[in-house]
Amino acid sequence: MKENILEARDVHFTYSDGTTALRGATMAIERGKKIAVLGSNGAGKTTIFLHFNGILRPGRGQVLFNGRPVRYDHRSLMELRRNVGIVFQDPDMQLFSASVVQEIAFGPLNLGLSREEVLRRVEAAMEATEITGLKDKPTHLLSYGQKKRVCLAGVLAMEPQVLICDEPTAGLDPLHAGQVMELFDRINRQGATVVLATHDVDLAYSWADYVYVMSCGTVVGEGLPGEVFGNEQLLRQSDLSRPWLVEVFEQLSRKGWLPEGLPLPRTKEQLFNYLQEVKGNKVPGKPAAVYLFPRG
Ligand SMILES: Nc1ncnc2c1ncn2[C@@H]1O[C@H](COP(=O)(O)OP(=O)(O)O)[C@@H](O)[C@H]1O
Ligand SMILES: [Mg+2]
Repeated sequence: MKENILEARDVHFTYSDGTTALRGATMAIERGKKIAVLGSNGAGKTTIFLHFNGILRPGRGQVLFNGRPVRYDHRSLMELRRNVGIVFQDPDMQLFSASVVQEIAFGPLNLGLSREEVLRRVEAAMEATEITGLKDKPTHLLSYGQKKRVCLAGVLAMEPQVLICDEPTAGLDPLHAGQVMELFDRINRQGATVVLATHDVDLAYSWADYVYVMSCGTVVGEGLPGEVFGNEQLLRQSDLSRPWLVEVFEQLSRKGWLPEGLPLPRTKEQLFNYLQEVKGNKVPGKPAAVYLFPRG
């Protein structure tokens, strides 16, 4: 049965300087799914994420966790935050401990867990994010990408039900961006719901089970990746481009290089398979487009 682990219902929010960041945003995050929240700069992605673990409180509207409205007393917020972990976009906003291991142990120690359990979680989180070698390093000496992984490890060590990451691949090189996305898949397979904010349409298209599109403080579209990225008007209205896979697939279909009626490919391997299948009958020679893809 479908079950929403997190919900925002008609959330409005205005910052203290008078900027209205959310104008009636509604989202229902289904338990166990991989969700991408897309939107150009200033759309309200970060602001809605800060509502999901109670850092911000709606001016109007409601946030629900496990079907119950979030309460804003200290105890309820502590409980919410152990279940809904956020990794901020800017690691310097998150890091405050002297060393990597202290940073990651901080959350679990605060949960009152035994020393053994804290150690187990810290080791597991460092292993998952491949930072075991940085264990004793002062956090201020880390590179940007390393800091991002330490932040992620700190949240993973809390073993949250929902992992929320704000622009997790921004500023990472392609190798580490790919590794982080694989890690999210692994965490999701272990049962966690994963919610990402991104303006990377390619990443959202290939990775997500479900996509929300935000613009000007509201949700202007949502659906399965194929639905959202097949909707040109929605993308244009939200200042988003089309994923290269969708673009190339449609060009090839239009030229008659692919048979009609094929579903949109979700991965480049799927597109290659389509091309492989038609090779030798419809496609003469090698299709040059295959060598022009921007991503590795
Ligand atoms: N701390 C803040 N104070 C005032 N305005 C803010 C603050 N944070 C964000 N905003 C404004 O709120 C709007 C939504 O921003 P944000 O949620 O950060 O969008 P996104 O994450 O999609 O880029 C923008 O107009 C932004 O300038
Ligand atoms: Mg943001």
